Amino acid sequence: MIKSERDGAAAAAAARERAATSAASASGGENHVAGKMRDGRERIISGKAFDEDARVEASIRPKQLSDYIGQNRVKENLQIAVEAARSRGEALDHVLLYGPPGLGKTTLAQILANEMGSAIKVSSGPLLEKKGDLTAVLTSLEAQDFFFLDEIHRLQPSLEEILYPAMEDFRVDLIIGQGPGARVHPYQLNPFTLIGATTRAGLIMAPLRSRFGIVHRLEFYSPEDLLLIVQRSARILGITMDESGAAEIARRSRGTPRVANRLLRRVRDFAEVRANGHIDIGVARDALAMLGVDDHGLDEVDRNLLLTIIQKYSGGPVGLSTIAASLSEEEDAIEEIYEPYLMQLGLLDRTQRGRVATALAYKHFGLDEPRRQPGLFS
Ligand SMILES: Nc1ncnc2c1ncn2[C@@H]1O[C@H](COP(=O)(O)OP(=O)(O)O)[C@@H](O)[C@H]1O
Ligand SMILES: [Mg+2]
Repeated sequence: MIKSERDGAAAAAAARERAATSAASASGGENHVAGKMRDGRERIISGKAFDEDARVEASIRPKQLSDYIGQNRVKENLQIAVEAARSRGEALDHVLLYGPPGLGKTTLAQILANEMGSAIKVSSGPLLEKKGDLTAVLTSLEAQDFFFLDEIHRLQPSLEEILYPAMEDFRVDLIIGQGPGARVHPYQLNPFTLIGATTRAGLIMAPLRSRFGIVHRLEFYSPEDLLLIVQRSARILGITMDESGAAEIARRSRGTPRVANRLLRRVRDFAEVRANGHIDIGVARDALAMLGVDDHGLDEVDRNLLLTIIQKYSGGPVGLSTIAASLSEEEDAIEEIYEPYLMQLGLLDRTQRGRVATALAYKHFGLDEPRRQPGLFS
């Protein structure tokens, strides 16, 4: 008994050491191929983080709940949960955050750890390859620490199973030794908070989902909230701009703070070269037009997607794989980045038989909508 306990402690110590490396390599996991176009250019309106964003985001990422703009319902709920957990001196319940990229999931995870006065370790589903990678992080957590697991929908099923007892009973089963002599040693973890983030809530299966006490969906931001975000970032970065210029950037940012911050920086570059650095509405409009971002925040790829459905497939329905092939784009990128916003704008519908361009989409391009299924209602 004593021997096996010592074995367990040694295994846990080794695991902790590995955790330090795995957590370090995990923090770079925000860049995704899906944010780039096939030819390697980066889409300016992509919600996914580019290398350039990662550098700037550190300075403009809100650190406290009170700096986090919008998402009021989510914020209010979390505020109460944090205060309750803090007054009981307990770890916060596990939190699942979902929604399109760039809406503030990572930011919120860091804020929650901050508000709880806890340390946070960061990793992501695709980065955790072996069971040992995950147990290493889990066993390294101190009481009330946070573990932020990004892209949790891409975690391997065998690793997901490790999470169940870890989340529920703060327990992992360490395997000691190898081959036939290997033994399972239950190891008690410190009470911690798992924050899972995903862009694809549909891919999280019930057993995992049900183990999160707090589940929130982040919504696209209103132009009013985005205006506040643009103005806040401009203040921090020392950019001078009119409210009308800021509002123009906010309106064309696809409801996404990361896009708003990126457009702000590009418009600033333009303003420095063409307008002595000051951003007014005219400068904002010229800069955004030059960047290929239209009045609705759509770029060339969005427009191609809609026009493909309209012109090649008479408005749809057409399957996702067909669209992806015609555009030479990844299906994942289409589903995660392009479609949510086009649906939000009411330009695209997802039906059981495929994607459909709406009447509004025809109007957007000044095209006449064909009559569909004549005779259905006559
Ligand atoms: N509610 C918010 N208020 C202010 N800035 C925000 C907010 N949400 C996100 N941001 C900004 O957008 C950037 C991207 O947010 P992030 O949390 O990385 O998105 P996600 O993890 O959902 O992809 C952050 O660096 C931050 O500066
Ligand atoms: Mg993130």
